[in-house]
Amino acid sequence: MIPLNNQRVGICGIGHRALSTYLPFFKSEVATSKGYELVAVADTNPDQLTKAHLDMSDLLLFESFEEMLSVVPLDYVILASPDHVHYEHILLALAKVKHVICEKPMVIHSAQAHQVLLELNHSPSSLIVTHNLRYLSLNSTIKSLLNQRKIGQVTVVQFSYHLLPGHGASYYRRWHRYMQNSGGFAVTKSCHHFDLINWWIEDRPAAVSGYSHRNYYMPDLYVEGKPSTTIPKDAELDDTWVASIQYTKGALAMYVLHTYSTFEGFHLMISGTKGNLEVKYDKNSTSNYQITFNYLDGRREMIEVQRESGRHSGADQQMLEHLFNMNADDRRCSALDAAYAVAIGDAINRSSSQGTIVQIRDVFPSLV
Ligand SMILES: NC(=O)c1ccc[n+]([C@@H]2O[C@H](COP(=O)([O-])OP(=O)(O)OC[C@H]3O[C@@H](n4cnc5c(N)ncnc54)[C@H](O)[C@@H]3O)[C@@H](O)[C@H]2O)c1
Repeated sequence: MIPLNNQRVGICGIGHRALSTYLPFFKSEVATSKGYELVAVADTNPDQLTKAHLDMSDLLLFESFEEMLSVVPLDYVILASPDHVHYEHILLALAKVKHVICEKPMVIHSAQAHQVLLELNHSPSSLIVTHNLRYLSLNSTIKSLLNQRKIGQVTVVQFSYHLLPGHGASYYRRWHRYMQNSGGFAVTKSCHHFDLINWWIEDRPAAVSGYSHRNYYMPDLYVEGKPSTTIPKDAELDDTWVASIQYTKGALAMYVLHTYSTFEGFHLMISGTKGNLEVKYDKNSTSNYQITFNYLDGRREMIEVQRESGRHSGADQQMLEHLFNMNADDRRCSALDAAYAVAIGDAINRSSSQGTIVQIRDVFPSLV
């Protein structure tokens, strides 16, 4: 449960995400009016602490998360460090009885996710994962339309996500490029998409198979971006992913990740016992969204959804306002939900490398 007012917050990891999303939020009236105060930040890189200090001069600065936890009486910690650091820091924060808000992916593989869930079972603290795509107006509308059973019982989800080359290449240039840091695209990026599918259809994955290849981002390929450089030789990531997921209530999902595509966003078709819905989300368009319903009785219906402005098409602002609001919200992502998103990505990695179908009950023995 999110407790009431006057909560002291600390952030671990003052990089791109924290500086672009969390610090501006804590300077805003929305945060202060709800009684949330950012009091301390930790980062192993002193240059990043300097940037935070320039932005908010009252902050207490620490080069160690553990030290920040020991010295400052915090109620909440936000983990915005690289993916592979989350696991250790979640366990440290729970041991010190702090509420945790963790960036996606919660952790980088299923064994870690399982252990976090076990720790939470006997902890008074809460853990929320910031799967912000749930808060995109388009995605929450799809959720409520599915809840109205407009297409009946969901049977098949076809979801393909697309990244422009400049964005895809950024994963090869930063810490993500080592599997041990990010779990590869299937975890660090696709966890967003698996969480969306699981949430939309309100089901848990039962079995996963996947394939991946590296076709495009070869060493020394020059790609425009920030910075515009070649792809480092030591990058370990595959760039092309296909997976199929069987759900516990019987629905099936087909998933494709294109990391060198002609647009940013997704193509989605969800089929059910009464018809299907189709939508294309183009992150860089300015038009409102159109969801098309095709019914088995021949009817067709178009529903327009207002496009919001802001980071991640308005999703970040919506998420922050709801996270730091006292009202319950069905968009909030629990540790269990986040664990299943990681489990699918990890299962795809395993299936792809071992040529097997991965049963989720084998990776989460005490849950499924
Ligand atoms: N939800 C979203 O849309 C979204 C978008 C971007 C990033 N993210 C997630 O946010 C997290 C941060 O990503 P980023 O792009 O800001 O990365 P980043 O590399 O820009 O920032 C990470 C920061 O963590 C610091 N750090 C590294 N190890 C640390 C440690 N042991 N203790 C304390 N600080 C440490 C680094 O010095 C760096 O300043 C990742 O988990 C990423 O997947 C989410």
